[in-house]
Amino acid sequence: MNTNVRPESMQRITTKALADTFIAEQIKLIKEQVGDKKVLLALSGGVDSSVVAALLIKAIGKQLVCVHVNHGLMRKGESEQVIEIFKKGLDANLIYIDATDRFLNLLKDVSEPERKRKIIGAEFIEVFNEEAKKLESVDFLAQGTIYPDILESDGVKAHHNVGGLPEDMKLELVEPIKLLYKDEVRVVGKALGLPEEMVDRQPFPGPGLGVRCLGAITRDRLHALREADAILREEFKICGLSKKVWQYFIAVPDMKSVGVKNDKRYEGWPAIIRAVNTVDAMSATIEEIPYEILHKITNRITNEVEGINRVLLDLTPKPIGTIEWE
Ligand code: XMP
Repeated sequence: MNTNVRPESMQRITTKALADTFIAEQIKLIKEQVGDKKVLLALSGGVDSSVVAALLIKAIGKQLVCVHVNHGLMRKGESEQVIEIFKKGLDANLIYIDATDRFLNLLKDVSEPERKRKIIGAEFIEVFNEEAKKLESVDFLAQGTIYPDILESDGVKAHHNVGGLPEDMKLELVEPIKLLYKDEVRVVGKALGLPEEMVDRQPFPGPGLGVRCLGAITRDRLHALREADAILREEFKICGLSKKVWQYFIAVPDMKSVGVKNDKRYEGWPAIIRAVNTVDAMSATIEEIPYEILHKITNRITNEVEGINRVLLDLTPKPIGTIEWE
């Protein structure tokens, strides 16, 4: 039997009761597969890896070793949230690595989007492998593969998933949610007690803010992007758009325009708002954000974020514009 094919008889997990049954089954299977051995997991803080982590912690506790690599391209507060939920909340065996300098040094002066992506992907694997090699007697690698990843194996996730572990480690895969669709993963996550904020999180690309800090990344512009993005998220939450819009973020291009602040010339970058709705990310439409909210966001970003002097709105559907700018 091909274990990568979802059986037709498999019921869609839509309720807590169904999720609880799934969780109980998976705990049994994980225990059978792993025994008393150790399992390694790259915990990004995204929905899929978080749900896998919570499931494995329930099944095997401290036999799970989570590694959270902060590549310096996370959104504001994300790494802190991972530590808060998993280390403090679930008492996870969590290794936190702040690799910001490594990534930003490698990305210095690199402006070509595909090269940026490749550098980020390759360095992620490098940092993760270095950690993995330090650990003794790990036999399994857990992954947050979900069913759409299997169906579109050359799809969006392929290029950032950890795929290049050293040959000599010979780890067997543990993929407890590989037959689930995204909505089911969220139901299971909630049943496992993960906070809604984490489970209902919008998609976030593997290369993170790296593909939104357009062109060659600089620390000051990256900082401005992170702060502006945090304001956008905060305001979308306040007005309820965070529950409605599929993906929303800020991109900051590598260009400045003239402005005036406190009666002085103030050259700054523009913050570009992108807010889209889609079913499968193949095509997307634009969310019509009320002007009142746009004014509030513009006001806050231009006043609170050092280096930003304009706020722009991207009205381009996909196609022709991709969701990300790079
Ligand atoms: P595009 O920009 O291609 O994005 O319209 C479609 C969806 O994929 C996400 N995306 C990525 N996800 N690694 C990822 O894991 C990537 O390199 C990547 N690039 C784009 C994007 O955020 C959107 O949800």
